[in-house]
Amino acid sequence: MIKKIGILTSGGDSPGMNACIRACVRTAAYYGIQVFGYKRGYEGLIDNDFLELKPESVSGIIHKGGTILKTARSKRFMTDEGIEQAVNNIKRSQLEGLVVIGGDGSFKGAMELSKHVSIKVIGCAGTIDNDLVGTDFTIGYDTAINTVVEAIDRIRDTAESHDRVFVIEVMGRDAGLIALRSAIAGGAEALLVPEIKHDMEDLIEKMKNWRSSKSSRIIIVAEGDETGGAYKVAEKIKEQYPEFDLRVSILGHIQRGGNPTCMERVNASIVGFNAVKAIMEGRSNEMAGIINNKICFTPFSRAVKHRQSLDKELELLVEILSS
Ligand code: F6P
Repeated sequence: MIKKIGILTSGGDSPGMNACIRACVRTAAYYGIQVFGYKRGYEGLIDNDFLELKPESVSGIIHKGGTILKTARSKRFMTDEGIEQAVNNIKRSQLEGLVVIGGDGSFKGAMELSKHVSIKVIGCAGTIDNDLVGTDFTIGYDTAINTVVEAIDRIRDTAESHDRVFVIEVMGRDAGLIALRSAIAGGAEALLVPEIKHDMEDLIEKMKNWRSSKSSRIIIVAEGDETGGAYKVAEKIKEQYPEFDLRVSILGHIQRGGNPTCMERVNASIVGFNAVKAIMEGRSNEMAGIINNKICFTPFSRAVKHRQSLDKELELLVEILSS
């Protein structure tokens, strides 16, 4: 019987983390498990900075973006001293389980931790980038793409009024998954992502045949694209097509905030509930995710090694629908 677990959020925050925390806390309480919430990710474990979370502690948070536990990318946790301090605190508090909500870096930390202390660790994929294997959608992704699409719609209004070309940069340091879906939903004319090489050259070529009757053109660029971001893309287009009235818009961190969507809240709740149940069942070093509407568990070792790839059919869809 598990009596006490910890929970933390780590890495970049994402909408839906609070819904996941709430689900973990209330599931644990339902099964008579005490929960300690650690502040600022692994930093809180190192400093023993925690608060006890009861069902009432997570009232009124399901609809809020960010994370009530705060988050950090802990450099200290990458050192032997940092790990040692965290391990000592875990032992002193007699934690038997830990839920880590974060991305691949956070899961690497969890793997390292479990080498040094006997504790059941389960991960919940929390990142707007959706770049983890083992789940169809990470916590935060759905809200982020909805935010991006709303922004594209607004930009489209002004682009059409001026017959302009817009280059819109979206987040995704290593992945083009935010760019891909928002390009489809936003009716974009082109997509540039890190997973597709030479897409800049292809775009320049393609622009020769752009239908002249179009009054607006939207190009979505993932921040990690090898061209070097939206300003670089705009520069290259200008060199070839100086006649275009062109503007750049970088959406930035607005993509990380905001109230989670309905889908986000439900998925985050399902994953949080299953993370606690997994700890109770004795599972460890796995990430809880949802694939084809079913809960599934992926070893951290696999989750941190692979990235979710771009769906080729969706890439083709952008191409076909942009004609
Ligand atoms: O959370 C992932 C992510 O949003 C990336 O897409 C982006 O590159 C990065 O975080 C930026 O994070 P920060 O500004 O917190 O360093």
